Amino acid sequence: MFSTNFLSNDQVNLLAKQYGTPLFVYSREKLTEQAKAMLDMPAPYGVQIYYAMKANPNLEILHVLKELGVGIDASSGYEAEQAIAAGFEPAKIVLTSQQLAHNLAELVKLGVHFNATSLRQLEIYGKSFPGSEASIRINPGIGSGHSVKVNVGGPTSSFGIWHEYIPQVHELLKKYNLTVKRMHTHIGSGSDPQVWQEAARISLELIKNFPDAEIINLGGGFKIARVPEEHGADMSEIGKIISRELTHFAETTGRQLKLELEPGHFMVGNIALLIARIDDITDTGPEGYTFIKLNTGMNDFMRPAMYGSQHPIAVLSDSSEKHDYVVVGHNCESADLLTPAPGDPEVLMPRTLNKAEIDDFVLIGGVGGYSATMSATDYNGFPSAKEVFID
Ligand SMILES: Cc1ncc(COP(=O)(O)O)c(C=O)c1O
Repeated sequence: MFSTNFLSNDQVNLLAKQYGTPLFVYSREKLTEQAKAMLDMPAPYGVQIYYAMKANPNLEILHVLKELGVGIDASSGYEAEQAIAAGFEPAKIVLTSQQLAHNLAELVKLGVHFNATSLRQLEIYGKSFPGSEASIRINPGIGSGHSVKVNVGGPTSSFGIWHEYIPQVHELLKKYNLTVKRMHTHIGSGSDPQVWQEAARISLELIKNFPDAEIINLGGGFKIARVPEEHGADMSEIGKIISRELTHFAETTGRQLKLELEPGHFMVGNIALLIARIDDITDTGPEGYTFIKLNTGMNDFMRPAMYGSQHPIAVLSDSSEKHDYVVVGHNCESADLLTPAPGDPEVLMPRTLNKAEIDDFVLIGGVGGYSATMSATDYNGFPSAKEVFID
């Protein structure tokens, strides 16, 4: 069994009986653990954590995090509205959206912090709120996602104001008498503390262009380990490294910057399991593959099909025999593959699993983030998997 599993076989059977499958099961305890690891990270001049709710806007998740003092990173005006409806104070919400929010003026008047991610957004904000405080997202010219699909910095990324356009930012600040109080970068840095040091250094260099800025927001992108080959971010280690950079910055410039972070996947990725049932087992002959077909797939969980992301999978059977299987979803779509090669959704990568029988339950781990909400919902007409929280 894989290390992020938190259910016994009996609990799986009970939950499946009670709610049916496919079923996302979330652990409140795991969520609290992850949130505390973030909240406890060191920062010399204060830190505020905003949960990137696009990772999973499940109401219970939002409520648990709100009680712990976490704010919200909203990716659209709609998400900001959802966060307010869930009870978050508007002042605890930062809105960083690719598409200009339809309700921007209303949200800003309520106290939501608007983070401009393009020159156009900054201009529109300036026109509506001249003489106010502003927040800007800069694309610093580098990124470190594991593929172009998740790279959120550098020339292949449309996110943020390109760093060479800082003079144009200054023209807009002057035109509308705006003061930049927060500078934001998000380059998807992963788990290596050295890469975070680099990200912090680059961002601190950029914030020198905005002498009134009091807050540096380094976004999210703190990796978790879902399978043994992956390394998760150690927040106390990364916190120490970023703190060193902030302290050095304060000593050399006299500016003590408050730190903000926006973890999504780190908070929720490993707090969930997906229970599925084996609907069929087929094969393509002795030279081919044996396929396990589940009663779930890309309509509930499309990260493997989209990114080639690796998730632990276990067949819950009593058999001590093992067999190599390609695990696929139930959609009429060859891309609906749950065991791709790492980072390559095009390549089938069989896994050695317990010998499976039709109707056996299968557990899939690491499905708390960008799963239930970032999927091909309604595809093939399948209803979405239910979601349940356990204590
Ligand atoms: C601005 C911003 N903040 C935070 C996040 C959260 O990233 P992650 O879930 O990798 O922590 C994202 C993700 O794309 C983002 O774009």
